[in-house]
Amino acid sequence: MAAKGKQGTLLQAICRNYLFSKRIYYKQSPVKKLYVQTRLGHSSTSSWSINSYMPEASAFHGIRCFKDLHNLSVLDPDTFWGVLAKARLEWSKPFDAVNESDFKSGTIKWFQGGQLNVSVNCVDRHALLSPERVALIWERDEPGTEVKVTYRKLLEMTCRLANVLKRHGIKKGDRVAIYMPVSPVAVAAMLACTRIGAVHTVVFAGFSADSLSGRILDGECNAIITCNQGIRGGRLVELKKTVDEAVKNCPMVKCVFVAHRTENKVPMSDMDIPLEEAMAKEEAVCPPEIMESEDMLFMLYTSGSTGKPKGIVHTQAGYLLYAGLTHKYVFDYHQGDVFGCVADIGWITGHSYVVYGPLCNGGTTVLFESTPTYPNPGRYWETVQRLRINQFYGAPTAFRLLMKYGDDWVKRYDRSSLKTLGSVGEPIHHEAWEWYYGVVGDGKCTVLDTWWQTETGGICITPRPSEEGAEIVPAIAMRPFFGIVPALMDENGKELKGQNVAGALCIKQPWPGIARTLYGDHQRFLDSYFRTYPGYYFTGDGAHRSIEGYYQLTGRMDDVINISGHRLGTAEVEDAMDEHPDVPEAAVIGIPHDIKGEVPFAFVVLKDDVSRAEKVVVEELKSMVTSKIAKYAVPDHIVVVKRLPKTRSGKIMRRVLRKIATNETSDLGDLTTMDDPEIITEVIEYYEKYKQQKSSA
Ligand code: WTA
Repeated sequence: MAAKGKQGTLLQAICRNYLFSKRIYYKQSPVKKLYVQTRLGHSSTSSWSINSYMPEASAFHGIRCFKDLHNLSVLDPDTFWGVLAKARLEWSKPFDAVNESDFKSGTIKWFQGGQLNVSVNCVDRHALLSPERVALIWERDEPGTEVKVTYRKLLEMTCRLANVLKRHGIKKGDRVAIYMPVSPVAVAAMLACTRIGAVHTVVFAGFSADSLSGRILDGECNAIITCNQGIRGGRLVELKKTVDEAVKNCPMVKCVFVAHRTENKVPMSDMDIPLEEAMAKEEAVCPPEIMESEDMLFMLYTSGSTGKPKGIVHTQAGYLLYAGLTHKYVFDYHQGDVFGCVADIGWITGHSYVVYGPLCNGGTTVLFESTPTYPNPGRYWETVQRLRINQFYGAPTAFRLLMKYGDDWVKRYDRSSLKTLGSVGEPIHHEAWEWYYGVVGDGKCTVLDTWWQTETGGICITPRPSEEGAEIVPAIAMRPFFGIVPALMDENGKELKGQNVAGALCIKQPWPGIARTLYGDHQRFLDSYFRTYPGYYFTGDGAHRSIEGYYQLTGRMDDVINISGHRLGTAEVEDAMDEHPDVPEAAVIGIPHDIKGEVPFAFVVLKDDVSRAEKVVVEELKSMVTSKIAKYAVPDHIVVVKRLPKTRSGKIMRRVLRKIATNETSDLGDLTTMDDPEIITEVIEYYEKYKQQKSSA
């Protein structure tokens, strides 16, 4: 036993050293403080009181101000979350215990013994009180053709769709893949699954047939819900065709439900069911399945540092409570506001802040089907003007792109409805932050850099909510949400105390929104998140804590890169390229990019006896990555080399490749473990040759 323990500790230490070799923390100059923002609901009005801010506060003893409330959430999480869960969710049976989680063993359980249904919480209860309130505004690709869906209508759609699923034998616990662009029927599909207790896994509609079938197989899904075609940026996307290809490899899929976004006909087989027709034949009532708090709600695949994507599992009550509470308090959402999160439902942001958070709060949420530049770079702001959006939530990659088109595209539209501007997915740099604050928000809105992950379920670090008059420092995530206790760790696995320190970002105690496991691989869950720093949840990111105690994210510490806010494991791209018969080895790293944040960069070795031109192989590699993963994963650069730099134990030294690719060869770091330093000169020569060829082309 003791020997095993020791080995474990050694492994953890090696793992930590590896992580720390990835990034030099906090190279930036200290953050600039430009604006002190005080506006956001509670801070600007003199009539503000803790009880109107959070009515449940009256149930807590001695809470007078925001700080008291935050302290309570951290020091007595059981009381805090217990009271909120009772007040904010509708239960069929009350829970027996609030929190039985333990980060040491990686066990996470909230609200055990409680029973509820998520669709009832997101739709029925609001439909009962305000049936004509608008739940969804579908901002279709074609500007000016938005469609509004009331809570009454959403309930009807959800029930009909749930009845269709039931009629085709889908039952509680079954997994259903959803491969659709954002639309009311896609939201109804997610909610219909929750209504009957099926588990949805939404696959981003830009993923290839191989990616889709990989997720269907891993998740053992027995049904797919899709569309005949999608439309994005004026272009048709052949969704059903991709599904047909994927299904060939998925014998467990029994039926494919096909909704219609366009008038075009697509081939239909015996297992394909036209969805709208089927829904029209069903009743508009469907009794909800009663679920346990810890039953699975959905899974969502995301990239990790090894090749195979991870099926992150979220459960019912804890996730919903956390999504709802963060939506309300981070964005200062009030009844009647129009909430515009422009993310796709294929990502966690779409789950938590297009669907579950806003609907749990009875809000009005925008479903944005288009792109930031269609039909022109004013699209977001024209939409804000037309729909009178109050809270806008988007990604830095889009802001960087739009900034290039000039301020006039923003200023020509009326943005006076905007109150809060959120940013998510990657660091928002100063320039983009200032554009967002000064140009988009006219210096009048609260700008929030929000940090979180698929695994955290909802926003964890962000400037708001915070106490009255609290400052906002541009371009940093700053403060932990209720119940979140961040910790920074050093290379030796020790927690760094005090201010002005940088390390691996962990979270110290459980909160209701954290993922529960990886589908079918709990051991990988434990290894990925709880092993490196025992007793802590490890995020995979690095962070700096300033003198004032504010958190600034410094980037991923593992081999996960962030392309336009989308996570991608470099190992996934390597695996896809390794399948090429002429490529014995490939190494992929991320390098910085103006608009996309990061892009993949590949060094590949070809077999000695390859007779075809290098150019041909490179083109084949690109199409392999497109068909195995998705277009966005195709490396911007593919450099053919003779050999890759390796350690004596045979590990590819990606950090050296990263330095070469970013032209930082004057300081290559520690090379003592390198097998043959000659290779560096060789790789640099190949890269120089590549650059020359590229510039002359
Ligand atoms: C990165 C998206 C800096 C981070 C909600 C994290 C950020 C990963 C920020 C999660 C931010 C997200 N500042 N980095 N505000 N937000 N990230 O799972 O590396 O798609 O670990 O969830 O994105 O990406 P995911």
